[in-house]
Amino acid sequence: MDNEDPAATIDLARGGPDASWLDRLYATEKPEWMDRDDVPLRRRQQVMRGLDRLNTVTGTYRSYARWTLEHVQDNAAPRILELGAGHGALSARLLAAHPGAEVTVSDVNPDSVRSIRAGELGQHPRATVRLLDATAIDSPDYHYDVAVFTQSMHHLPPHMVAAVLREGTRVAKTLVIIDLWRSPVFYALAVPLAPMAVPLFGFPTLHDGLISLRKAYSTSALRTLAAECGAEVHLRTRFAPPVFMVVTATGEERS
Ligand SMILES: C[S@@+](CC[C@H](N)C(=O)[O-])C[C@H]1O[C@@H](n2cnc3c(N)ncnc32)[C@H](O)[C@@H]1O
Repeated sequence: MDNEDPAATIDLARGGPDASWLDRLYATEKPEWMDRDDVPLRRRQQVMRGLDRLNTVTGTYRSYARWTLEHVQDNAAPRILELGAGHGALSARLLAAHPGAEVTVSDVNPDSVRSIRAGELGQHPRATVRLLDATAIDSPDYHYDVAVFTQSMHHLPPHMVAAVLREGTRVAKTLVIIDLWRSPVFYALAVPLAPMAVPLFGFPTLHDGLISLRKAYSTSALRTLAAECGAEVHLRTRFAPPVFMVVTATGEERS
């Protein structure tokens, strides 16, 4: 059968093609509660609320906004696309931080989109709320100055990450992906500390958070996926303490 998506058959260890046996043992494909339709909606919402609280109290949204806006510094009216926005908190910060930015707030989950539309972002004059799959974006080439996808990449299997790299760099001049840094050492430190964080962020968020760390992609996995995604994609990756990987991806001019 003909396969139109060049990335559809990619299979790769999240630690990359040269992942050690220890890394392969550490890796998991266990789904997070947030990704399971058989888990009650209430619990999935608890995961998102706890994550929102965690990002707020740790100043994470501020960092995400800075790492996004540094790519449009000299642009008085940048067009920004947030993919996998979840609750839309980052988009709200981007709009507040840049008085000329036009932000498209999107997610693949209809419940998220409905609730973002019903909130303040739904009324914001510079925001557009859309249902969008980050692996198949229905926008023209380079329609956006920057697209951003935070804490979502590890939810996707490798062939879908390749599709995000291809699509994100097609519709935006720069694609910024922010996710967890793959580090078994960090995980080993986080496990004994997690119970202390339960009263602050809730058990569901900590449960999913620990799984997330084991599903994070390594830089070598991302380089492999960029090379096999079916388009010319250039990547820069950097570690951002305490636990983030910031990926900046750009594509070749496409006609
Ligand atoms: C852990 S939440 C992250 C939410 C928010 N970006 C943040 O940093 O707090 C992951 C989000 O990715 C979204 N998502 C998963 N697969 C997606 C896809 N293919 N396209 C767009 N969004 C997706 C989910 O619906 C969910 O809202």
